[in-house]
Amino acid sequence: MTRTIPLHFVDEEQLKHGYVNQSVWLEMSGFTARPGSHCLLPSADGELDQVLVGKPETFDTWTLGALSQSLPAQKYFLADDFSADIATKLCLGWVLGQYRFTRYKQLADALPELDFPENVDDRYVTAAAEATYLVRDLINTPALDMAPQHLAEAAQQLAKHFGAVCEITQGEALVEKNYPMIYAVGQANSAPSAQTPRLIDLRWGEAGNPTVTLVGKGVCFDTGGLNIKAATGMKLMKKDMGGAAQVLGLAKMIMQLKVPVELRVLVPAVENSISSNSTRPSDVLTARQGTTVEIGNTDAEGRLVLADALTEASSESPDLLIDCATLTGAARVAVGAEIAALFCNDDETADALLAAAEGVDDPLWRLPLHKPYRAMLESKVADLNNISSTPYGGSITAALFLHEFIQEQRPWIHLDLMAYNTRSLPGRPEGGEAMGMRALFELIQTRFGHDSSDRAI
Ligand code: BES
Ligand code: MN
Ligand code: ZN
Repeated sequence: MTRTIPLHFVDEEQLKHGYVNQSVWLEMSGFTARPGSHCLLPSADGELDQVLVGKPETFDTWTLGALSQSLPAQKYFLADDFSADIATKLCLGWVLGQYRFTRYKQLADALPELDFPENVDDRYVTAAAEATYLVRDLINTPALDMAPQHLAEAAQQLAKHFGAVCEITQGEALVEKNYPMIYAVGQANSAPSAQTPRLIDLRWGEAGNPTVTLVGKGVCFDTGGLNIKAATGMKLMKKDMGGAAQVLGLAKMIMQLKVPVELRVLVPAVENSISSNSTRPSDVLTARQGTTVEIGNTDAEGRLVLADALTEASSESPDLLIDCATLTGAARVAVGAEIAALFCNDDETADALLAAAEGVDDPLWRLPLHKPYRAMLESKVADLNNISSTPYGGSITAALFLHEFIQEQRPWIHLDLMAYNTRSLPGRPEGGEAMGMRALFELIQTRFGHDSSDRAI
């Protein structure tokens, strides 16, 4: 019979005084209770008896994120008492650390299991973990198997599961229904195929509840179009639907935890490909809104598809409008790959989101919608150019481009995210990643949920 093994957090002091009998073993293992380290302790008969874990200065979501895939495949429990808030974070991080992308390669090795303490908010852990796994799976799946069609199927599957309604507009119907820029970016794939451009439109929730609309950039592969990317820049571009993945994950959390909102999710799903009928540099498009847009660079495609989706989203004046997008390399230069850049036209909303982000270990950093830079988007032939006239502040000028298509009087959040862990960190294996999703959920739950007080986080 296997027993459940205790995980004990210890600091240097506790280690020195509390484990006198094991001092030789501890010394030979070189365990000093440094935060992030751990030591397996045997019993007298040579079985695994307990695990000592270096006590961190503060416990957070990532504290158990590495242990959950490095410990022997046994059953464990937390031997120390934690508040519901901390216990919930520890358990979520444990699960997030156990993610593996197994679609094409089965990894047979078994994983350790953790018995969650009683005060953990199980529903939240399950919802946040399942949503994160969904986001990661969608991003990690290469474009061959994650074309616009597959993204649409993922949304339809979610809709079916939660009793939502999902409408897909595709191909020529995008022209008929006036989504010219979504069509233009996907134009190279206008012949019917899995890559044909489409607009995914999912609705869920009771009419009369506060309205929240999510928009996600769903560029299933970004070659750059005729302004083709170099090899290194193109390599990771299967992740250019990361914004779409993130809003689908967020929608899943909202529906699973039954947040009382009227939810709408809009995902323009396209491939930015090269073909004789690709949109060309210098072409001029007329957006859904009526604005004319000169194509300065076909690689600035995300803002084009988002613009038409944001126009549609804004036509219903939602109480909160959120878009997530792997929009610019410049945002990565500004804040790196591990922090999502936040743009917001409403200080109160931005402050609330930043506080939420801090509370759930899901970092965001606000950048300004600096109005004077709007001049850099001027075009000699059209109302707007899709690229800036200077290389500076590229994530800001991209955000200002989107800003042209929303209603200024309504709160709007724009996240420019990497959607990919470029290195493995505790709880965050290398590969596709949700970045800012749990923070957004927290904001929505706090602002619109009626019984947020009985949740642990
Ligand atoms: N999908 C890219 C942005 C991107 C690149 C995000 C790398 C994350 C990592 C986007 O469509 C793009 O190509 N943007 C260009 C814009 C430029 C042409 C104005 C960029 O950032 O270089
Ligand atoms: Mn691009
Ligand atoms: Zn792109």
